[in-house]
Amino acid sequence: MKIENAHIVELPKYLDARGNLSVIEEMKEIPFNIERAYWIYDVPGGEHRGGHAYKKNNEFIVAMSGSFDVVLKDGKEEKVFHLNRSYYGLYVPKGLWREMKNFSTNSLALVLSSTCYDVEDYIYDYERFKEYEDED
Ligand code: TYD
Repeated sequence: MKIENAHIVELPKYLDARGNLSVIEEMKEIPFNIERAYWIYDVPGGEHRGGHAYKKNNEFIVAMSGSFDVVLKDGKEEKVFHLNRSYYGLYVPKGLWREMKNFSTNSLALVLSSTCYDVEDYIYDYERFKEYEDED
């Protein structure tokens, strides 16, 4: 998968004096059906998450609170997306190496996934990932 296939999506925003509201619907704001939602929180300063690729899973990442960076690699190029608003999300298609870092204090990362958790879907070795890309 090429890095250009990953992109930021601006989510609908309903501004209201009572507080704002944003929404994500499957196959609308994001191009997949949601099988799973998980979130990452209480990340100690300086910690990284990820550092792997998925063979089948597509994901959509939102900074519900605070900020962090998502680093994507396709074996040739690298791109860093800084997420810091709950009305933006990053679509990360399968087949990209991804890492999350530079979490701010009290940041909350929501991840919506197109598949259920399956450890067999992970590629944890970067060299293997690059070979996998070549085979694709
Ligand atoms: P992992 O995906 O490796 O975290 P990260 O990519 O953020 O570094 O998952 C960490 C642990 O959580 C691992 O032991 C498996 C478990 N886990 C689940 O059981 N279900 C899930 O949906 C996810 C994402 C992780």
